[in-house]
Amino acid sequence: MTGKDEYYNRAKQQGYRARSAFKLAQLDDRADLLDRGDTVVDLGAAPGGWTQVAAERVSHEGTVVGVDRQRIDELDEADATVEYVRGDITEERTRDEIREVLGGDDERPVDVVVSDMAPNMTGDYDLDHARSVHLVRQALDVAEDVLSSGGDFVAKVFDGRDLDDLEADIDEAFEYVRQMRPDASRDESSELYLVARNRLTAPVRAGDELEVDVVDTGSEGDGIARIDGFTVFVSGAEKGETVHVEIEDVKPRFAFAAVTEEDA
Ligand SMILES: C[S@@+](CC[C@H](N)C(=O)[O-])C[C@H]1O[C@@H](n2cnc3c(N)ncnc32)[C@H](O)[C@@H]1O
Repeated sequence: MTGKDEYYNRAKQQGYRARSAFKLAQLDDRADLLDRGDTVVDLGAAPGGWTQVAAERVSHEGTVVGVDRQRIDELDEADATVEYVRGDITEERTRDEIREVLGGDDERPVDVVVSDMAPNMTGDYDLDHARSVHLVRQALDVAEDVLSSGGDFVAKVFDGRDLDDLEADIDEAFEYVRQMRPDASRDESSELYLVARNRLTAPVRAGDELEVDVVDTGSEGDGIARIDGFTVFVSGAEKGETVHVEIEDVKPRFAFAAVTEEDA
């Protein structure tokens, strides 16, 4: 039996709408993306296999927003609150609707944005790759709009020449990004998933050099500087000093820096 048949049959037996449900389940088993109570935006959700898996894993306290330009039949017995948005995510009105179901001005923080979107296939490998990269960039725009600091992003892409640039751009916005190929997609050899963890909303990036005022001392003796309210730990600097630093590592809620040259 081929892998395709195996997952197709398992999906039927277990009541999943699509064999692709196992891809999200396997990505989550490996990367631990979905937690109870999470809010998840599922882009390219029809017919709803990923929505089913996400709803099971975020459970009753969680919310899943399924978005697709095709109709998604409502889940009969969803484990979580599930909202549906029908529209093309490249269109602004679809993005407005996503924001609206997330609560408008009192927007619910989104923990994970997943995209299993695929372009209509033409059979021209380079064209299909380029369109798939374009869809990931659109999904990234949505993620950067709604995802909370520290949130995660997962997107399907077809391998090809623009993958490295795409991955580098995603890496800028997150702590790190990895390529993953779940077992359930092994028959579709050019398909992989980019899994980006811990969205960064910090006003600095690793490698930045700047001058900071050290305004406090951390519990482990490092100096603390604040940039637009964001905390930067400066090793070897003391409260009251103004120092030139290089940012060494950025986390969602703070960064580490080293002194490069102290002001006299
Ligand atoms: C592989 S299917 C998703 C399967 C789904 N994850 C599941 O488990 O049931 C890809 C979906 O992406 C959707 N899609 C592609 N481009 C889109 C766009 N620009 N906006 C919204 N949905 C899109 C398609 O309509 C299609 O339903």
